[in-house]
Amino acid sequence: MSKKNKVTSAARADRHALYQNSVQDTEAELGFVADTFEELNGRALRLLREDFCGTANTACDWVRRNKKNQAIAIDLDTEVLEWGRLHNLDHLNAEQQQRIQMVHGDVKQPTTTQVDAVLAMNFSYYLFLERASLCQYFRRVYQSLMPDGILFMDAYGGYEAHQELEEERECEDQQIGEFTYVWDQHRFNPINHHMNCQIHFKFPDGSRMNKAFNYNWRLWSLPELQEILQEAGFSRVQVYWEGTDEESNEGDGIYSVQTEGEADAGWICYLVSQK
Ligand SMILES: C[S@@+](CC[C@H](N)C(=O)[O-])C[C@H]1O[C@@H](n2cnc3c(N)ncnc32)[C@H](O)[C@@H]1O
Repeated sequence: MSKKNKVTSAARADRHALYQNSVQDTEAELGFVADTFEELNGRALRLLREDFCGTANTACDWVRRNKKNQAIAIDLDTEVLEWGRLHNLDHLNAEQQQRIQMVHGDVKQPTTTQVDAVLAMNFSYYLFLERASLCQYFRRVYQSLMPDGILFMDAYGGYEAHQELEEERECEDQQIGEFTYVWDQHRFNPINHHMNCQIHFKFPDGSRMNKAFNYNWRLWSLPELQEILQEAGFSRVQVYWEGTDEESNEGDGIYSVQTEGEADAGWICYLVSQK
């Protein structure tokens, strides 16, 4: 066997490409955000800010969706931003690139541009461990929104969210091939809800990319989040809960405003907060 053939899939794989493929569904997410904004405001969403943007995959898809769309994408980490610039931004055409701005910065710092909507997805704001720092972040978002601006966030919970467990999902990508996504709730402290969560990837050749991503965050509850968002000034905070497919009894991917949800083992919902 040549030396080249001994390189494992894990060694060849790119963790950001794997993440984008297994974790993100920008089309479904942006569809929800655009439709909900229009429904609540009677106008189209145009200028979107993607906080904790990572590779800015969502922001790039936003400008690709419509030639009137604009995006600002913010992240603290230069390595992930650079990856996004090379693999996402550089694949946009010149005109699309003019409608997106990638910012290396802290989402808790004040910004000058007022936007229609801010997205804080994939639970990134769970990285704020204290109520005061989370509230400060929400205040900053509030200040940077237009008068009818909206903050969109996702949240997860359910009794399995409090367990130390591993969940696997099979994934496939044209370029990457087959791989397994592993969500590892590695440690959960019931006293302060701090958790350590990790993402690993496994490959058909038996190789494994361990701790491709590692998050130390706090499992916030929906009542806490709604109260803190109101404290930060938002006039209306609503939970969009997922409907159930009657045949499969699984989530149907359709989110609507609800004030009562089912006590599922594991749920994901959207929080929609209007200025
Ligand atoms: C969960 S990941 C990104 C998720 C991405 N938004 C998505 O939808 O898949 C969290 C990102 O937040 C960034 N981050 C953490 N704290 C930040 C802060 N205070 N300001 C800006 N970015 C931050 C990290 O560098 C990391 O790229």
